[in-house]
Amino acid sequence: MDIPADIRDRVERDGFAVLADFVPAERCDELRAHTENLLAGVDPDVDGALTVFSTTEQTHTQDEWFLTSGDTIRWFLEDGAVDEQGRLTRPLPLAVNKLGHAMHDLDPVFDRFSRTPELAALADELGFVDPRLLQSMYIFKQPGIGGEVVCHCDHTFLWTEPPSVMGFWFALEDATVDNGCLWAIPGGHRIPVKTRFRRRGRGTVTEVLDPTPYPTEELVPLEVAKGTLVVLHGTLPHWSGPNRSERSRHAYTLHVIEGTAHYPDDNWLQRRPDLPLRGFRTSPPATV
Ligand code: FE2
Repeated sequence: MDIPADIRDRVERDGFAVLADFVPAERCDELRAHTENLLAGVDPDVDGALTVFSTTEQTHTQDEWFLTSGDTIRWFLEDGAVDEQGRLTRPLPLAVNKLGHAMHDLDPVFDRFSRTPELAALADELGFVDPRLLQSMYIFKQPGIGGEVVCHCDHTFLWTEPPSVMGFWFALEDATVDNGCLWAIPGGHRIPVKTRFRRRGRGTVTEVLDPTPYPTEELVPLEVAKGTLVVLHGTLPHWSGPNRSERSRHAYTLHVIEGTAHYPDDNWLQRRPDLPLRGFRTSPPATV
């Protein structure tokens, strides 16, 4: 699709932009089928997720599972999906919350989806000088159990100086209020950032910069059709509700930062030196 000429103005004005039909339906289906194939090959006992998410083990191991996932491909389970004996309380395909956080660099199908000429052109139009793909997530938002994601902005988690992160949120299926679509506060990216999430010791802390809550009554639903791309400014407050429907609401997100910005070494997401961040147009190094 053509990138709207006013895309940068729209994101600067509203904090987000909705681009319908950005991705052809068959590409959405391909990514979804590929992820479901990956899931079919998972033995969570062997892969460790059951141990990590069993309710008796909790905090430290879950922290570790998360903090070491920035340069790998790892499954995350829904809260309550594993009982105290480390057994799944529901079939695995219905227990998975998300897959993250480096599929765009380590999996050829995700790489292809994440690095297209259209996305490269979009990053240019948005004003990126040296865009780097930092994080990818495949979010399942399962029917009935897919939980709420609290109101936050992405800069809190993917901090750069100056702020530069933008989110590219792809609807792989129709997203509605019923099945837990994205909500956002129009213009809310101008609200000063309230928290900063950082590593401390073997865990993390959330530093409070402003204790007042976001005006969540100003959230508006972004109901979008499959194939839509939603561009989210890094300081835009957004939220998604639980999926109360019978339908899934799969989405894929990419977070992009400016390569020229400073990336603090106490951000939760750190990459090993042999897997440097890449842009939209660069090939993987021979070692990957
Ligand atoms: Fe987010």
